[in-house]
Amino acid sequence: MDKRKLKCPPIVIMFTNNKGGCGKSSECIELAYLLGEKYKVLAIDMDPQCNFSLYSDVDLENHKNIKHILDVDFENIEECIQHTDNYDVIAGNRELVNATKLYPDSDEEYILQEMISEFDYDFILLDSAPAQSLLSIIEYTASDYVIGVTECDDGSLLGIKNIRQDIKTITRRRNPKLKYLGIILNKYENTNINKLAEEQLNEMAEEIDCKPFKTKIRKSSKSSEAKLMRQSVSQYAKRNAIALGNRELLKEIIKRIRSDGRM
Ligand SMILES: Nc1ncnc2c1ncn2[C@@H]1O[C@H](COP(=O)(O)OP(=O)(O)OP(=O)(O)O)[C@@H](O)[C@H]1O
Ligand SMILES: [Mg+2]
Repeated sequence: MDKRKLKCPPIVIMFTNNKGGCGKSSECIELAYLLGEKYKVLAIDMDPQCNFSLYSDVDLENHKNIKHILDVDFENIEECIQHTDNYDVIAGNRELVNATKLYPDSDEEYILQEMISEFDYDFILLDSAPAQSLLSIIEYTASDYVIGVTECDDGSLLGIKNIRQDIKTITRRRNPKLKYLGIILNKYENTNINKLAEEQLNEMAEEIDCKPFKTKIRKSSKSSEAKLMRQSVSQYAKRNAIALGNRELLKEIIKRIRSDGRM
């Protein structure tokens, strides 16, 4: 059955924070899985660590992947796509750790943006590496929306602020339509220190003019268990707080996209 619902080019959402380990790949997999229940979804692993591909249990060795897409002369996108239960994946490639050397031509920044209309999907989710690089510029250039993912620590909160600066730079020249859709507070616990971090996040959000989503994603050991099983928590333990939280979060995400007129 063809799930394609939206009669418009794919809506491209990038998950980012230059701080490592805050849950970008985890959130990307939860939301790809849940969005994929209704819509036609493609997730692209833009991180040379390839964690998203690993968590999604796709072939990282013998299947064509994102590097083949970025290699300019490559034309057959279909050959790069792998299927999971609810969503499709273009796997990452470890060689892309040298992306700047591999693609010295500045036109490369536009390659994904130019290809987006060729993808027959409702949503494309981009999982980012925890670093600024040519790959993140390619993602910013191709995206409609950025979602910042943070946990309750100084480093990732600072990362959330840095995203606003990146968006300013990108909208000036490469991609004027790019918007900061929202911030996900991940690994949340009801402790005083987490409440303090949440307050700091809310203050910073006003400064950078981007609202955190109301739904916070709870910390739970099911996150690592699900990864060992190569599944999203939403698939592995659908009553767990991470799964239930992401269902609520997804409603907020869709609402913001709708009120922006994209759906
Ligand atoms: N809500 C959560 N509760 C508990 N653990 C979590 C949660 N979200 C993520 N984690 C754990 O945190 C670790 C890092 O998560 P993840 O790989 O998603 O982060 P990341 O931001 O993508 O990291 P990187 O910057 O290296 O790409 C993983 O072990 C994951 O299981
Ligand atoms: Mg990751």
